[in-house]
Amino acid sequence: MDNDMSAGENRRREVKSAAKKSAEAGGVPPRQQFGRPAPIRSRNDDDRRGRRSRQEASDQDKLLWKPSTMLVPTPVVLVSCGGRAEQPENIITVAWAGTVCSDPPMLSISIRPERFSHGIIAATREFVVNIPTQDLAKATDLCGMKSGRDTDKFALTGLTRAAGASVAAPLLAECPLNVECKVRKTVKLGSHDMFIAEVVAVHVSPTLLDRRGKLCPEQARLLAYAHREYYGLGRRIGFFGFSAKRPGTPRRR
Ligand SMILES: Cc1cc2nc3c(=O)[nH]c(=O)nc-3n(C[C@H](O)[C@H](O)[C@H](O)COP(=O)(O)O)c2cc1C
Repeated sequence: MDNDMSAGENRRREVKSAAKKSAEAGGVPPRQQFGRPAPIRSRNDDDRRGRRSRQEASDQDKLLWKPSTMLVPTPVVLVSCGGRAEQPENIITVAWAGTVCSDPPMLSISIRPERFSHGIIAATREFVVNIPTQDLAKATDLCGMKSGRDTDKFALTGLTRAAGASVAAPLLAECPLNVECKVRKTVKLGSHDMFIAEVVAVHVSPTLLDRRGKLCPEQARLLAYAHREYYGLGRRIGFFGFSAKRPGTPRRR
């Protein structure tokens, strides 16, 4: 994704120059052109005097941007791989990850072919998705900055290997959730190849369970990723189906 970042920079330059040309050619209203945010255009004098709030202005005057990967937030995960078929063990940070099927449980990760981990996963056809906590934000970023081609990321980050149940790839002991996966399909998409994988085992730290054994994700202090920034998850604001519950009906657990 670091290449995506420089691509973004190039795109910003392109758009800036396109906007300049368009202004020189008489100007196209921002709504009709793709691009980075043009300044919010005032509709009347009140706007110029700041009488409408910024929120009101943004609701009414959406800006039309170029197509981009704008789905936010995404998870950010540490994918560990290797350990079989003569492949070295490695860790890669991945934000293009998602759940894609409930039964069988499946997820996807998208990785650029030039990544060291891509070759490892293509050869072993397995990996582990390790869910980092906020305390692991720095290690998560580091594993996305260095390549396993020339760096031992276990030594670099101090992350500890643990044995999996169904795959040879190591789990990362410090992550409270580890999801073992076997690749079922690889889809070439363009910049990235998507590995669609079946979940074959899940490891859960007891620290995430309440007294009745229910998973409490908030106890994991999970990380999210949005537009090149890391975030801690905020407070819980509801539960599945809460909108349809009658007042006073207890939550089914
Ligand atoms: C927050 C973050 C998210 C990233 N997401 C992806 C991703 O989804 N796919 C990808 O190919 N690279 C992604 N990267 C870049 C790789 O993690 C990075 O190039 C890494 O150094 C590759 O390691 P490797 O060469 O050892 O496989 C991400 C990097 C960061 C910091």
